[in-house]
Amino acid sequence: MRKIEHKSMKRNVRPWLIQAASHFKSQVSDFRFQISNLKFQISNLKFEILVLFLCAGAFASTATSLQKSDVERRIDALLKRMTLEEKLGQLQILDGEANGNYRPEHLEMIRKGLLGSTLNVRGAKHTNELQRLAFEKSRLKIPMLFGFDVIHGYRTIFPISLGEAASWDPGVAERSASIAASEAAASGVRWTFAPMVDIARDPRWGRISEGAGEDPYLGAAMARARVRGFQGRDYGAPGRIVACAKHWVAYGASEGGRDYNTTDVSERALRETYFPPFKAALDAGVGTFMSAFNDLNGVPASANPFTLTTVLRNEWKFDGFVVSDYESVKELINHGLAADEAEAARAALSAGVDMEMVSRLYGKYAAQLIREGKLTQAIIDEAVRRVLRIKFRLGLFDKPYTDEAREQAAIMSRANVEAAREVAARSMVLLKNERDVLPINKDIHSIAVIGPLADDQQDMLGSWSGDGRKEDAVTVLAGIRAKLSPKTKINYAIGCSAAGSSIDAPAERRLFDEAVRAATQSDVTVITLGESAEMSGEAASRASLDLPGRQLDLIKAIIATGKPTVVVLMNGRPLTINWVAEHSTAILETWFAGVQAGNAIADVLFGDVNPGGKLPVTFPREVGQVPLYYNHTNTGRPPDPNNKYTSKYLDAPVTPLFPFGFGLSYTRFRISNLRVAASSVKPDGRTAVTVEVENTGSRAGDEVVQLYIRRTGVSVTRPVRELKGFERITLRPGEMRRVEFALAPEHLGFYNRDMRFVVEPGEIKVFVGPNSVEGLETSFRIAR
Ligand code: NOJ
Repeated sequence: MRKIEHKSMKRNVRPWLIQAASHFKSQVSDFRFQISNLKFQISNLKFEILVLFLCAGAFASTATSLQKSDVERRIDALLKRMTLEEKLGQLQILDGEANGNYRPEHLEMIRKGLLGSTLNVRGAKHTNELQRLAFEKSRLKIPMLFGFDVIHGYRTIFPISLGEAASWDPGVAERSASIAASEAAASGVRWTFAPMVDIARDPRWGRISEGAGEDPYLGAAMARARVRGFQGRDYGAPGRIVACAKHWVAYGASEGGRDYNTTDVSERALRETYFPPFKAALDAGVGTFMSAFNDLNGVPASANPFTLTTVLRNEWKFDGFVVSDYESVKELINHGLAADEAEAARAALSAGVDMEMVSRLYGKYAAQLIREGKLTQAIIDEAVRRVLRIKFRLGLFDKPYTDEAREQAAIMSRANVEAAREVAARSMVLLKNERDVLPINKDIHSIAVIGPLADDQQDMLGSWSGDGRKEDAVTVLAGIRAKLSPKTKINYAIGCSAAGSSIDAPAERRLFDEAVRAATQSDVTVITLGESAEMSGEAASRASLDLPGRQLDLIKAIIATGKPTVVVLMNGRPLTINWVAEHSTAILETWFAGVQAGNAIADVLFGDVNPGGKLPVTFPREVGQVPLYYNHTNTGRPPDPNNKYTSKYLDAPVTPLFPFGFGLSYTRFRISNLRVAASSVKPDGRTAVTVEVENTGSRAGDEVVQLYIRRTGVSVTRPVRELKGFERITLRPGEMRRVEFALAPEHLGFYNRDMRFVVEPGEIKVFVGPNSVEGLETSFRIAR
């Protein structure tokens, strides 16, 4: 929005400037003739200053558009010289080896101009080698673009994105993305396939771990922050990389939570739920988009003209490029949309997928399609233009190589590792803390550390571990050891395997017994439960959300010892942990916390950090409740325990185990004095909501103050609550702070029956609280 205003301002100012300048000329000649008139001189001097000022502004604005048109001119010049084959080369991205090396066939293709980008090739040496071929040996010397999934860190691995979203602190996401960008850039990678901004309301879908959870407002805030973190203000600057908003779009709505599955999503849900984080990424200047795998309302997302062209290009004016997902162009055949490979290429290209990942149908069939009149040269040229535009903006034509001598120093620096520890600690969510068992006193005599995830370095890293190495990772056991003095006895036992064991019954019994013994001999038990890293992420959907394997039995045995039991959860999705929630003493949700997981977890367990994260997703009680999300509409028969004929289950409650936005602290907060500045606001007006937050406990701590609204009596049904503002604040014991939220048309409006974004008159309920179910309530009106 701001961007558009800015542009139109420039447009309006320019003609006026031309007039002003010519006016200035005539004033100057007047001035010569009336040199004796002092009054005139002074006023003309003022005028001169004004014009000089405006001219400077005009010069600055022409300078940027000159740069822009300079890029476009250079693209025009290149396009004129490119053969069709070379153009198609720019539209092709191929995969390297998992270890970062390129494949032999890349060499010849690059030399001939038939390959413009790779994914997974990384390391300054590898990328420079390929770049040299492109930039020095190919006919047109167009640089390569090296892409990689830098999702939650390059080598310094941060918490999974869902975990970072649990910080409810966009600054955290920006910081980690910025560090990831600097490490990736030092390795020659200038393009990340991130942020993944898919809204996901179904925890069976393993890729819920890669996004910011279920809410479009929080999702948009995180998307914006991540794009800013990767790209900075200019992704051509050193240490910056171009981001990719993925997966466009509604991939997170896959039926049954099964990865790659079909989606059928109304235009309302697209615009209100699935689009907003993408729009936020776009407004933050994201350079590329990735088209998704899923079939969307009968037209696969990688060949969908509505999402790729009508919305992205025509409505949103996106001028970067769209890359397909891995072979998603070829998969149009499996979807049944394309009868053959040529048709798949045509469908994707003409819908607006500019670059094809891994499958090679554009290169193979575009010439034939053009000859047959099924595809225009203009579509190819436009796609190439978009790709080249990003390469120019990245500065690759001017600085194509990476400094090999500086690579090592930039990666896993002390500062980066320290940041990973801080970000990880800020991402943790305290779900239960009975009798204030946490934080644990560092002088404790003995502690049992139990569980299959307690000392597994690989699992700390999570699902997309970039160039991360398991040997870099600090486990929970190592973190606890480092935190405590040798006086504390640490009794470690694995207990069982994370994913369900393949060991025989006697061996399993032995592991259980060891764990029980460790707990019995200790003052307190810390038990790590959850999923191993490969159980979430891509192609890792689950039909059950229960603790895998024998973990539930293990914790039952541990709790039977009667010792206080602190559960450290590690998982890429909400899990159904009713029994654990009821019987454990404390639960700390740590997601997959990255290279510094163990240190950060120990920081929180022993009170050096007071946890302040909140859930970015609802935790259901039963998998059968899914999809279960806080911002649902109300139904005509909302659940009523006294009325059978209302919307509920016979065999499970309708409420979640832990609601969206929930999280505790080692201290306590009181929220009071909720006020809306105006009792009535015009549809295009704004108002402020204020509230007072006080730390009533005895430790400093963080509260995430959350603002929700509800609209009733309008032309379409609206969610029972919609998040429209949040702020994470730190308060000293006894400290009170006033928190203010702005409510503007962008928060108050919605899509009406004609899919127009409007602010309709009527009542607006406002809730401010510590999560999506508790808090204070007030209301105001939108006037007619
Ligand atoms: C497939 C995934 O869906 C996508 O997220 C990823 O960026 C590409 N593979 C490239 O690795």
